[in-house]
Amino acid sequence: MRLKNQHIAIGISGGIAAYKIPQLIRLCVKEGAQVKVITTPSALHFVTPLTLQTLSQNNVYQDIFQPYDSSTEHIQMAQWADILVVAPATANTIAKMANGIADNALTSTYLAFNKKVIIAPAMNHNMLHHPATRNNLDTLAAREKHVVLPTDFGQLACLTEGDGRMMEPEMILQQIIMQSKEQDLEGEKILITAGPTQERIDPVRYITNNSSGKMGYALAEECASRGADVLLVSGPTNLKLHHPHITIKHVVSAQEMYDAVETYHKEQDICIFCAAVADYTPLEPQCQKIKTHCASELRLVPTKDIAAEMGEQKQKGQLHIGFALETNDEEINAKEKLEKKNLDLIVLNSLNNPQAGYQYDTNQITIFGQNDYRKDFPLKDKKEVAADIIDELKKLTKK
Ligand code: C5P
Repeated sequence: MRLKNQHIAIGISGGIAAYKIPQLIRLCVKEGAQVKVITTPSALHFVTPLTLQTLSQNNVYQDIFQPYDSSTEHIQMAQWADILVVAPATANTIAKMANGIADNALTSTYLAFNKKVIIAPAMNHNMLHHPATRNNLDTLAAREKHVVLPTDFGQLACLTEGDGRMMEPEMILQQIIMQSKEQDLEGEKILITAGPTQERIDPVRYITNNSSGKMGYALAEECASRGADVLLVSGPTNLKLHHPHITIKHVVSAQEMYDAVETYHKEQDICIFCAAVADYTPLEPQCQKIKTHCASELRLVPTKDIAAEMGEQKQKGQLHIGFALETNDEEINAKEKLEKKNLDLIVLNSLNNPQAGYQYDTNQITIFGQNDYRKDFPLKDKKEVAADIIDELKKLTKK
């Protein structure tokens, strides 16, 4: 629930990308936001008020001259909303916003609004690159608290290829989350390992574990939404992540994960070792499928402990966070790993807690730090757990 208690006004203008806005509304509501929708008259040729009202659970503000909740609805709306998202923003609406024209519900609300504005342009390539539109976009981008999102390249509604597609709703959501949060990790470079690794036995078999990657991905999103530049080194997972501040490096084996981390470790401010790295790997992976009658013995060798090795190379000022998933002697084992791997914090999750650890969407953690620091947290959604971990980490960066 990363938009809990946030009031988001979504203004839709009349472009074909308007058909994607019901999805954006759903994503915002799912994250806990209260959403109200404002439309221009043209937008209603592309989406129906019923769809927008059903998904936002609020009346749609469509017409300045039709009664809504009050006769000065544009003023009320501007006061109510924390963020105004204009998506899709057509060339026409962009031109009106840039020039202060307030001739419909959306443009009047915009003019009465003095908080954060996110603009997601969508139009034909030539319209986007027309000097008039470029000037208008530059004017809006230069205004305080305004963010003009880039457009995507690809097939446009006019069936030509070009620049001008609206940013996808999932990415717009990330931008809304970023704008709603304090950017307290701006400028920080953070490397996160996530997911399991797969250790090849032969072309059809491998050794792996139950890690879903959810915790590491939640951490990556949390850090990025607070302004950090994140490099996510991920083992094989089913998860998808789209965020302008996250670069994902996909790896398969423990050795590949080690190589990726080693390459980028030096330039990081913070490293979070969240992956469930295999501890052993087959000594001699076979090129051909091992026949049933030959599979008598599988010889394993230890993998490199990425967190421990990076702990030895830790640079001054760098912070390292590790994870411990334990079934017994949890505290002793976690504290031992904190020292052995030269970590600043270790996040313990016990498999003895129902709903915590691998695969679940929830987790229950205890964080241990240097000088016998300990903090216990209740069972929470992994996205909220990620926020707790980063809040703890922030305390160290302030020291
Ligand atoms: O020793 P154990 O595997 O329990 O330690 C867990 C911590 O060490 C986690 O932070 C995990 O990501 C990291 N680790 C690692 N490389 C390994 C094994 C564990 O980075 N080969």
